[in-house]
Amino acid sequence: MISDYDEKLPNEIVAHYEQGDEIQRLSSSLGQLEETRIRELITRHLPSTPAVAYDVGGGPGNYACWLARQGYEVHLVDPVPLHVEQAAAASQAQSDYPVAELCVGDARHLW
Ligand SMILES: C[S@@+](CC[C@H](N)C(=O)[O-])C[C@H]1O[C@@H](n2cnc3c(N)ncnc32)[C@H](O)[C@@H]1O
Repeated sequence: MISDYDEKLPNEIVAHYEQGDEIQRLSSSLGQLEETRIRELITRHLPSTPAVAYDVGGGPGNYACWLARQGYEVHLVDPVPLHVEQAAAASQAQSDYPVAELCVGDARHLW
């Protein structure tokens, strides 16, 4: 599914994410703390599998891949094509637990 919403993201947001740094953010020391905490918070609210999860603003796919490995059917949406490409590569690297769907889209217009 591809969103047909064509409102542009602000240039400064696009320029920031096109630097490509987002894929490394959770590897920094503070990022590792964030990742651990976010996973803990998500886990508190997850239904048991099988279930469908939407990761909107999912970036390079860290949480989407983690959820897919747990057996969720995950759909990742992000407006930055680079992030969706990176998430697709991460999904392909865990071929037994692929993310079900990865697409360019905008949280302001979900279908
Ligand atoms: C700080 S990153 C977080 C990525 C990932 N959720 C994580 O926690 O590692 C924010 C993400 O939101 C995305 N984003 C920015 N504007 C958005 C919008 N309007 N709709 C959906 N996602 C958006 C960015 O492309 C980026 O991937």
